[in-house]
Amino acid sequence: MDVANAKLILEDQEIDLPIVIGSEGEKAVDISKLRAQTGHITLDSGYGNTGSCSSGITFIDGEKGILRYRGYPIEELAESCKFLDVAHLLIYGQLPKGAEKDAWVDGITRRTLIHEEMKKFFEGYPPHAHPMAILASMFTSLSTFYPDGDDTDLDIVRLIAKAPTIAAFSYKKSVGQPFVYPRNDLGYAANFLNMTFRKPTEDYVVPESVRSALNLLLILHADHEQNCSTSTVRMVGSSQANLFASMAAGVSALWGPLHGGANQKVIEMLQRIEADGGDYKKYTEMAKDRNSDFRLMGFGHRVYKNFDPRARILKKAADHVLRDLGVDDPLLDIAKNLEEIALADEYFVERKLYPNVDFYSGILYRAMGIPTEMFTVMFALGRLPGWIAQWKEMRDDPKGRIYRPRQVYVGATERHIG
Ligand code: ACO
Repeated sequence: MDVANAKLILEDQEIDLPIVIGSEGEKAVDISKLRAQTGHITLDSGYGNTGSCSSGITFIDGEKGILRYRGYPIEELAESCKFLDVAHLLIYGQLPKGAEKDAWVDGITRRTLIHEEMKKFFEGYPPHAHPMAILASMFTSLSTFYPDGDDTDLDIVRLIAKAPTIAAFSYKKSVGQPFVYPRNDLGYAANFLNMTFRKPTEDYVVPESVRSALNLLLILHADHEQNCSTSTVRMVGSSQANLFASMAAGVSALWGPLHGGANQKVIEMLQRIEADGGDYKKYTEMAKDRNSDFRLMGFGHRVYKNFDPRARILKKAADHVLRDLGVDDPLLDIAKNLEEIALADEYFVERKLYPNVDFYSGILYRAMGIPTEMFTVMFALGRLPGWIAQWKEMRDDPKGRIYRPRQVYVGATERHIG
């Protein structure tokens, strides 16, 4: 919806800039013609105040702590949905029902096997290869098996179906155990858990509390509008790179400790505090000290300046799942104490630093038996439908064009050799 224009006075020119208002009242000044009109660009390093697209997928109000997928509050989806339903909602705009739902779930269930040739790739990696590196390579490798790219919906189904198999195989590789093949009689989360935890020597039945915790975690991670990895996916996809290559780029962007890699870093931080005698106050002081580069991992968010609603849900779930599984994890107590102290501390209050989704997800994954190095892979499995939805929205946009930001050059002016 376009309404009245903004006026910009620049040097001796007065320029009208269109105002765009989103469906939740978010306002933007459209500067897309500014350079053509005035020779100026806008500068916003880190894109903190830049809208890179219009999107109908996910709404966040960071001030109020609101997160909705396609209009549905995250709390409702987390309470009553299966991950594959939420994936369909994100990608196609509605929760699937009846025959549509059957076709969606069945299509994914029947495509979980990876090509036997692809299995050989795993042999080439060193035993302790990080599973995120394997995941990114394997996503790209899928495009060698499905190179045509002429049936996007089928490629989407393939990718969602095969991602847990690849993730579980990368775990099995890291512990030197034989791969466990997918099973069509299990649901999405249970199938992943079975491929991950079953050993040839023992019986394994997926515990219901672990299955439902995984379903919840995947839903909470499923989309988060234009974050670092999603913007990367859109950026790469904007060149018309194929779906698999674009998703591999998302995996790489997610890996970093300031993004999805934070869940691994949270556990490492809590372990460090525990090994150091559990003195969490010392670590909040360190996080505040400008001379130290230590940060409270799992705290702070570019968008949320209030409690991350996902962290709220996960804190409750962590209590419940740990009790159910009979796990007594001292790291949970340290995490709660850290949170309590930080929420009352002026430094964190002033900067609006609250726990983010990664603060409690690591504790849950630990209780479920997922090794620390796999945490970010779990995040990637959850985020996959969001990446796909955003990629598809961009590709389906008739006005879409290649992403190409500008810069302000501050290097040497022209000079010559000799
Ligand atoms: N611990 C201590 N201080 C912090 C923290 C933290 N975790 N996060 C931000 N601050 C401080 C900064 O030092 C800065 O202080 P200053 O104004 O005195 O210089 C202020 O708060 C603002 O921080 P920025 O880094 O400018 O905020 P930005 O929006 O760029 O960064 C980020 C957001 C990367 C999430 C940051 O808060 C952080 O590093 N958190 C820890 C890592 C983390 O948990 N990442 C996961 C994010 S959620 C996700 O990706 C799924």
